[in-house]
Amino acid sequence: MSERSKVVITGFEAKYYDELLNVLSFFQYPKFIKKVIFKETDVKSGSNIAELGVGNGRNAILFAQKTGKDGKVVGFDISDDMIDKAKRKTKKYPNIEIVKHSILEPYPAKYENFFDIAFISFVFHGLEDYEKERMLENLKFILKKGAKFYILDYSQTDINKTPFYYRFFIKKLECPLALEFLSYNLDKNLKKHGFVLTKRHFHFKNLISYSEYTYLADEAQ
Ligand SMILES: C[S@@+](CC[C@H](N)C(=O)[O-])C[C@H]1O[C@@H](n2cnc3c(N)ncnc32)[C@H](O)[C@@H]1O
Repeated sequence: MSERSKVVITGFEAKYYDELLNVLSFFQYPKFIKKVIFKETDVKSGSNIAELGVGNGRNAILFAQKTGKDGKVVGFDISDDMIDKAKRKTKKYPNIEIVKHSILEPYPAKYENFFDIAFISFVFHGLEDYEKERMLENLKFILKKGAKFYILDYSQTDINKTPFYYRFFIKKLECPLALEFLSYNLDKNLKKHGFVLTKRHFHFKNLISYSEYTYLADEAQ
């Protein structure tokens, strides 16, 4: 991973990831993520769902509840600390599998054309542009045609027009890649890989966006 990124979470941050997120969001995060997954994501009973950068498994559990016993949630991550946490947290859910795998590398053959949904939350902004390309290229291998790809991340916005606390957070606490991501052309770059924007929701005063892309393969380019 690039040294300009902070998205590989280990140690203290991994141990207290939920608590840190709760504090940073003024305790809005649990309610927010439930709304995103239960109301803004098109999960059908029996859907196979990939979470790219699964973290400690909080989102995976919500997806597992929504897809039910006929579906499957596979969470990919590279941090041993996060994987340990996610495995412990999700052990009561037989439909969740946590896999150590970098989303920048080709996926195991058994996942070819397997997923109806892919979800990536607060990981995309921390990839260098060439890594974003690699991630998308690899993702195509595991998605069914017509699958939905959801990106939850910072909105594309003019940093100078955002509230002072957000400017402070992005410039001083986040990684340099996060600031660059605010002017990244998400829709155009996704389209190059066959993903077409089908829905977008804004949250936290439009600072966070949740984008739904439909994977149309070669037709979209
Ligand atoms: C900021 S956390 C977000 C975790 C989770 N998606 C969430 O929203 O709670 C980023 C996660 O992505 C993982 N990650 C970073 N780079 C990765 C890569 N190349 N492949 C797989 N996981 C990665 C990190 O280890 C970490 O668990």
